[in-house]
Amino acid sequence: MSRLVVVSNRVGDLRNPAQTGGLAVAVSEAIKDRGGIWFGWDGNTEDEADRSATIETIGNVQTILHPIASVDYQPFYLGFANSVLWPLFHYRADLVRYQQDYYDAYMRVNEQFADGLIPHLRGDDLVWVHDYHFMPLGAMLRERGCGAKIGFFLHIPFPPPDIFAALPNHQTIMEALLQYDVIGFQTFTDVTNFRRCVEEFTQAEVNGERFRFNGRVSVADRFPIGIDVEAFQKMASSKAEALFSEKFRRNLVADKQMIGVDRLDYSKGIPARFQAFSQMLTRYPELSKTVSFLQIAPPSREDIGAYAEIRDELERLSGTINGTFADFDWTPIRYIHRSVSRDRLAALLRTSQVALVTPMRDGMNLVAKEYVAAQDPEDPGVLVLSRFAGAAEEMPEALLINPFDVDEMADAFNQALNMPIEERRERHEILLQRTRAFDVHTWQERFVACLSDPGAWQTSIK
Ligand code: G6P
Repeated sequence: MSRLVVVSNRVGDLRNPAQTGGLAVAVSEAIKDRGGIWFGWDGNTEDEADRSATIETIGNVQTILHPIASVDYQPFYLGFANSVLWPLFHYRADLVRYQQDYYDAYMRVNEQFADGLIPHLRGDDLVWVHDYHFMPLGAMLRERGCGAKIGFFLHIPFPPPDIFAALPNHQTIMEALLQYDVIGFQTFTDVTNFRRCVEEFTQAEVNGERFRFNGRVSVADRFPIGIDVEAFQKMASSKAEALFSEKFRRNLVADKQMIGVDRLDYSKGIPARFQAFSQMLTRYPELSKTVSFLQIAPPSREDIGAYAEIRDELERLSGTINGTFADFDWTPIRYIHRSVSRDRLAALLRTSQVALVTPMRDGMNLVAKEYVAAQDPEDPGVLVLSRFAGAAEEMPEALLINPFDVDEMADAFNQALNMPIEERRERHEILLQRTRAFDVHTWQERFVACLSDPGAWQTSIK
């Protein structure tokens, strides 16, 4: 069996099952089974003299944590990765703040990672590069003589050509992506957008989802990411956490709880969700005091202006809504701007009657899957899900909404709160089946199978 070498900016904490964060959790689950190397950033933003990589062995996984110099970290991570690629790939060209030195640092850090990784690689490894921080890495490894199979998986959406063209370096990035043997995406839409960009911006020969460019053939497919359903179910029903959420619920006067859990990011649609909750209370005054909304939104990328703005906006909105509707014994919105451990989140998801997963655009959104896994199948809650989350492709039995339409959302929230038990059970049963079928292990196995023999891979794109 070939050794698996995973590369990602964040390296998860393999010793802590309660860690949070979509990519870190999923990759931890995926690599724990098979073992291998996990190569990524050491997380330090301060320079210490002559920092070198830290190597550690945890079970059958070796983690190699590589430094990024503080002069590069700012333009690489805050700059190109999160002020250019992140907004653009989430269809927010208006938030892109491009600077040439951001791009230069992006390429420099990718070169440094290629230099750091290459001595560890063997010819028969399967190298699996993750996410938008490292799109050119595969091409740089090739330039350094790497003969191993190299695959790339994008956790976030891939935009259509009209949007991608706004990236000044779009052609270079496209050509670099075509140096991978496998290019994986979350959804059909992303694969289609990618194919259209290959056609429009490169000279590659295109045959379905196979591309020939500079003598190399690549295959693109969708590999929807999932969760470890059993592990999450166990966390959701663990005694200690159940006790905590019971106590929490007893403190609420309302008998129903709606919940949202998102990194505080403008792509998550939290302000529109707050507005829809407020609109629901106006339209359906009988709901007053019967329901409260718990929003957990851990801080993220706070040094970027757009993130500071969304934080201010939410503080204003929650204040206004509570000011308008609250009573001595009822707080409509509880907004927690702090991170909460995964086992506690699991219990809170289980004890909430409705989950609001309403991003304006999202690669997949694992909270949708976690909510389904956390439910009691006898009395399951209702998932309200944005059509623009990757998860919507696999979860049409959720209440699908358009997050740009606050009125429609308000009605869907009300419908979710009043859904009869038979309908809840029916929807939940199918959703749970599918969440199991496309779990994190299937995700890993399908990607690794494709990377092991890309030529023989039958793509799932019709
Ligand atoms: C998304 C990205 C990941 C990233 C995570 C947390 O899920 O796809 O690559 O690690 O957000 O963001 P951060 O910037 O803190 O790593």
